[in-house]
Amino acid sequence: MDLKEVIKKQAEQYDSFYLYDENVIKENVRSLKKAFPEVEFLYSIKCNPERHVLDSIFAEGFGADAASLGEVIKAKDAGLPKEKIYYSAPGKTVKDIREAIGYSVIIADSLYEMENIDRISAERNTVTDIGVRINPAFSYFGEDGTAGPSKFGIDEDQFYGFLENNKLKNIRITGLHVHLRSQELDPAAILRYYEKMTMLASRIKAALGAELEYVNMGSGIGITFSPEDKAIDIAALGSQAKACLDEFRKANPHTRVIIETGRYASGKSGIYVTKVLDRKVSHGKTFLILKNTLNGFVRPALTNMARLHAGDRDAAMWEPMFTSVDAFQYSALKDGPADEKVTLVGNLCTSTDMVVDSIMMPHLEPGDLIIMNNAGAYAAVMTPMQFASLEPPKQLFLTVDGRVLA
Ligand SMILES: Cc1ncc(COP(=O)(O)O)c(C=O)c1O
Repeated sequence: MDLKEVIKKQAEQYDSFYLYDENVIKENVRSLKKAFPEVEFLYSIKCNPERHVLDSIFAEGFGADAASLGEVIKAKDAGLPKEKIYYSAPGKTVKDIREAIGYSVIIADSLYEMENIDRISAERNTVTDIGVRINPAFSYFGEDGTAGPSKFGIDEDQFYGFLENNKLKNIRITGLHVHLRSQELDPAAILRYYEKMTMLASRIKAALGAELEYVNMGSGIGITFSPEDKAIDIAALGSQAKACLDEFRKANPHTRVIIETGRYASGKSGIYVTKVLDRKVSHGKTFLILKNTLNGFVRPALTNMARLHAGDRDAAMWEPMFTSVDAFQYSALKDGPADEKVTLVGNLCTSTDMVVDSIMMPHLEPGDLIIMNNAGAYAAVMTPMQFASLEPPKQLFLTVDGRVLA
């Protein structure tokens, strides 16, 4: 059955739904593994924690980048062992740490967190291996200086100061984590970042006086949103990164290199499908009223808000809420010439529930379907589905063998 037929069939049951295509997930995940054969990958669960998505990605050998205790549990329940679940987030509570410590590798995000992990480990008479998230002395694009003030991680110089006087006997620092940026489409910037990360890892190793077990370089790899975006050639990126990573591995044979990604694995796999519920003409303008837009897939409405408020200035990227004013494309499932100008709005009692103002579409009637793309990451999870107590959209998963799982 082709994708159109799958959508039509599901629309007989559901007025709005996400559909995640496993073929796309597998292709993206495998292309990463092939491009970076000696790197370990983690999936950033926060972008799409749908269980079939997790199973599909973890089955490819990916570990988990968990941003909360809830995500640690999701990864554990999906069958990952402790050493493949990395728990990195600011503001972990003592309860979070106590519960996650048996199921994940904890990445301390502050000196205070290190003290808490140390105390909990002392109570249990153990020494816990942890990673540290560092706010490095370089920026993503700059050559030196600092990444600037950040709520994430420990400033690199503060970390060295801490090590000079470290009294925490029940933790052992064995790993490094940095993440400075998402949605980068310039391969040269990503490569330069990897080089700076390997230099940072060497500085941290020298300060610790021991080789690290792992360096997690975070994410950064972007996907296309706007029709103007140029997709990253992952195979080329991998081969260009090889020299730098090989050199690092030669000097650090026991250090595993990790890259995490959310959007590259699942972002392009998802579409959002919604039904036309009504159409009306008001003062000469045609509105199509759709099921669950702001409260089903919020980012088009946020995009609209940014477009309105930025005026003629370019609205700056504010990931993962806003990427660009043309980040999502809207199409009708129905064939026919796009000869009617319509405004796509949702069925909430707020005028901010607008997808796009004045777009050309074939003539659509109640029951027809609109498809929105780029809905596989930071889509369902970002959306206020409880708004107005409407029935939320379904999340469906199309397996490689053509089954649809709810
Ligand atoms: C620490 C960390 N790692 C990984 C990611 C995933 O980023 P992306 O979905 O762009 O790959 C994020 C996103 O916010 C993050 O904060």
